[in-house]
Amino acid sequence: MTLADTGESYACRGDESVLNGMARLGKRGIPVGCRGGGCGVCKVAVLSGSFRKRVMSRSHVSEDDEAHQRVLACCIFPEADLRLKVIGGLQKAVERPAVLPGQPQS
Ligand code: FES
Repeated sequence: MTLADTGESYACRGDESVLNGMARLGKRGIPVGCRGGGCGVCKVAVLSGSFRKRVMSRSHVSEDDEAHQRVLACCIFPEADLRLKVIGGLQKAVERPAVLPGQPQS
């Protein structure tokens, strides 16, 4: 997976959500949401690549969003390498530098 926002890439298995993989980048604030499609904070735009998806609430993902590959990272599972742009509430966390192990959290 590659984050278009920062150019960072990370591994994500096909049986784990794209959000779970992103959480391993070690950034503070990821994931900040419910991981279950309920809060909408993990919204991303998939720029390229293919994925499977779980049903997503229309309150967070409109038909137009879905048609344009704007989906919830916790509800999609990669089938091929994806290029993503974070567009939900996670955006600030993604743009922050990673917290290294042993470094204070605040
Ligand atoms: S983490 Fe809540 S909708 Fe994805």
